[in-house]
Amino acid sequence: MAELIVALDVASAAEVERVVDLLGEAVSFYKIGLELFSAEGPGVVATVKARGKKVFLDLKLHDIPRTVERAVKAGASLGVDLMTIHAVGGKAMIRAAKEAALAVGADAPKILAVTVLTSLDQGDLTDAGISRDVRAQVEVMGEFAFANGADGIVCSPREVLHMRTLLGPDALLVTPGVRPAGADVGDQKRVTTPAQAVRDGSTHLVIGRPILEAPDPRAAARAIAREMKGAHGEGGEYE
Ligand code: C5P
Repeated sequence: MAELIVALDVASAAEVERVVDLLGEAVSFYKIGLELFSAEGPGVVATVKARGKKVFLDLKLHDIPRTVERAVKAGASLGVDLMTIHAVGGKAMIRAAKEAALAVGADAPKILAVTVLTSLDQGDLTDAGISRDVRAQVEVMGEFAFANGADGIVCSPREVLHMRTLLGPDALLVTPGVRPAGADVGDQKRVTTPAQAVRDGSTHLVIGRPILEAPDPRAAARAIAREMKGAHGEGGEYE
C-alpha cells in the first residue's frame, strides 16, 4: 500500500517534536530535508526515530563515490528508511550508495535518485551541456539510476504513470506536489490529488503544507491516508 510521508519543513527540533506528537498515530513516516538536517544535525533523525516513526532523509547526495558511500553509511546507522542521491552523480556513485545501504543488512535504507530538479528548465540543461529536453532527461536518468541499483526515483505526480511503465512494478516512485481536492496549491505548479497519484503508481506521497497548515493537522493527515487507501478500491495493484 502506498505510504504517506509528511515533510518536516519546520525550523527547529522543538517544532519537529511538536508536529510529530500532534500527528501521533495518524502519520508514521516523515521527511527530513537538507535545511532541517543542516540546522539540527543527526539528533533530529533520532528524535523522530525515537517516536517509532520512519524517516526519509532527503539530502540529495552528489559527490565522489567514496564520500557518498560514507554518507549513506552514516545515514543508515541512524536508522533512516529512505535516502536520496542525484542520478547525475554517475554509475559508480549510485552503486556505492546502494552497496553502503545494503551493508546495513535487513534494515537497509532504500536509495532514491533525483533525476532533474524541478527548479531547472531547458535553459539550465543547455547551460550544463545537456541537449535532451527535460522530459527525456528525466526518463533517461530514471532508467539509468534504476539500472544501476537505485530502488526508485523522486518524480512529479504528472510523470508517475509514465515512469511506472518505464521502470516496471518494483520501482519506488516518490511524489511531492500532491494536493487534496480543493486545497491551496501554494507554490506547487503541477499538482494532483492523493488518490490520482496512488492510482498512477506512486508508492510514497510527500505532503507538507496541506497537513502542517491545516486547522486540524491530524484530521487532515487521516483524510489523506483514507483517500490513498481508497484509491484502488480493494486489492489494487500497488496496495
Ligand atoms: O508543502 P508541500 O506539500 O508542497 O511540500 C512538499 C515537499 O516536497 C517539500 O519538502 C518540498 O521541498 C518537496 N519537494 C517538492 N517538489 C519537488 C521536490 C521536492 O515539493 N520537486
